[in-house]
Amino acid sequence: MGMAALLLVWALLHCTGTAVTMVRASHAVYPELQSLEAEKVDETSRTGYHFQPPKHWINDPNGPMYYKGLYHLFYQYNPKGAVWGNIVWAHSVSTDLIDWTALAPGIYPSRQFDVKGCWSGSATVLPSGVPVVMYTGIDPDEHQVQNVAYPKNLSDPFLREWVKPDYNPIIAPDSGVNASAFRDPTTAWYGPDRHWRLLVGSKVGGKGLAVLYRSRDFRRWVKAHHPLHSGLTGMWECPDFFPVAVHGGGRHYRRGVDTAELHDRALAEEVKYVLKVSLDLTRYEYYTVGTYDHATDRYTPDAGFRDNDYGLRYDYGDFYASKSFYDPAKRRRVLWGWANESDTVPDDRRKGWAGIQAIPRKLWLSPRGKQLIQWPVEEVKALRAKHVNVSDKVVKSGQYFEVTGFKSVQSDVEVEFAIGDLSKAERFNPRWLTDPQALCKKRGARETGEVGPFGLWVLAAGDLTERTAVFFRVFRANSNSSSSRLVVLMCNDPTNSTFEAQVYRPTFASFVNVDIARTKTIALRTLIDHSVVESFGAGGRTCILTRVYPKKALGDNAHLFVFNHGEVDVKVTRLDAWEMRTPKMNAPAQ
Ligand code: FRU
Repeated sequence: MGMAALLLVWALLHCTGTAVTMVRASHAVYPELQSLEAEKVDETSRTGYHFQPPKHWINDPNGPMYYKGLYHLFYQYNPKGAVWGNIVWAHSVSTDLIDWTALAPGIYPSRQFDVKGCWSGSATVLPSGVPVVMYTGIDPDEHQVQNVAYPKNLSDPFLREWVKPDYNPIIAPDSGVNASAFRDPTTAWYGPDRHWRLLVGSKVGGKGLAVLYRSRDFRRWVKAHHPLHSGLTGMWECPDFFPVAVHGGGRHYRRGVDTAELHDRALAEEVKYVLKVSLDLTRYEYYTVGTYDHATDRYTPDAGFRDNDYGLRYDYGDFYASKSFYDPAKRRRVLWGWANESDTVPDDRRKGWAGIQAIPRKLWLSPRGKQLIQWPVEEVKALRAKHVNVSDKVVKSGQYFEVTGFKSVQSDVEVEFAIGDLSKAERFNPRWLTDPQALCKKRGARETGEVGPFGLWVLAAGDLTERTAVFFRVFRANSNSSSSRLVVLMCNDPTNSTFEAQVYRPTFASFVNVDIARTKTIALRTLIDHSVVESFGAGGRTCILTRVYPKKALGDNAHLFVFNHGEVDVKVTRLDAWEMRTPKMNAPAQ
């Protein structure tokens, strides 16, 4: 956490293109910039198939849901500028999570209880089929209160207009609550006692809280005596709480489970629960998997899950304020997450835009219940166009090759590496276990090793002067080779991603929970999209998203290479790469 806090301070200092006057809800506020409309939009590093509006600032995904054949995505949006401010819920719809149509903002300041902003929240589809959104409003005293809004016209599948009942706010901070740290209501769920429940993120002193509220009628909400869960990790933003199916020998463990089914007895045997919180202090998200006792309304993480900021993360890169929803059309749970820019505020001003959403990911519990697995929703494949492939190609120590015959600047790459001789893996120092990111920094892509670094150079200039490395290293955790355990590090190193010295270029990394001694192979899928490198290691066990801004490796000048800087040869057993088409990305509704 020390490291992450330092990074945050660095990032804040670094972004002082104009003075940071205050930081509220962890977003730096630039009063003089927040209502300066973008004069033009610089397309250079704009993404092709990652979600973004035509211009200006975006942050958290809000209230994702499926309703009458359409996926809805709302998101925090500044309609007036490329920095945080003037926050409304922008609104887009899609039939396939790929092509998006932009509608007018769904929720925007209009009443006392949200006059200073409409912040993050969630949707709940009631048993009657009526969708309702719950969001944080900022009132005239800058207090954070929870409001509800209903569709004006249920026969409009676009759900364009929302009505805010006069009885808002439905939840106001009481005397025990810090009114400027009380936000981001979850999707509500229904208990066996016929009461609805929801969580609100908060803090008391240094303790983060998922405050629990109950309601009989969705209108009058009463705070429970204790939070659902808490932890000594500072403010908890954007909590998410949902069930996941356990493997249990069944074939359907990848299916999603609706929060509305939470109290179903039979189902209860087959599910675990996930609690995810976004830590304001570190700007990363952490989750645990555990059990939820409906009678006591307590959540207990399973043994083996670290219930703090050393715990598991959905993504070990730039991914924050995420929110999942149950998709009844495909019986799956889908996760949305925000990826911020890592360039400077003056750059964002010049670009006229800032922020994207990561590719929506299907999410499920691993067969052994030790972690979640994520994979780009299957619809993404529909964007695949020109295809190239490589198979059974040995990459000898110190060598690399280019994947040619296609344009990689907007592409989807799947590769599998087989490792010749794992017995040579370097010794692993147990002290590295707590900080894979530091290890990745120390042993970056240029540091030669024994087994690895091997992987991809993406968004690379032809002469390799710019490149972002996504790679693996394998270590041996015990000197006694008969009982040694192999540790796989997945790493993203953007140190050489751009000539632009001002850009923030943190290395991101995590260990990958695979038994490589048995598989002897490791797979990587990387979605490349101009300024995004979104990677899924070992079938989605470790995910790392990073933002990069090459100056040279742009458009047709962006290349893709496979490299091996380890002593041990590796073989690309198969590599499939596709150019990706550009979907309809937030064209205005007709
Ligand atoms: C997370 C967050 C939320 C808040 C919103 C404001 O990024 O700080 O806690 O509701 O952004 O835009």
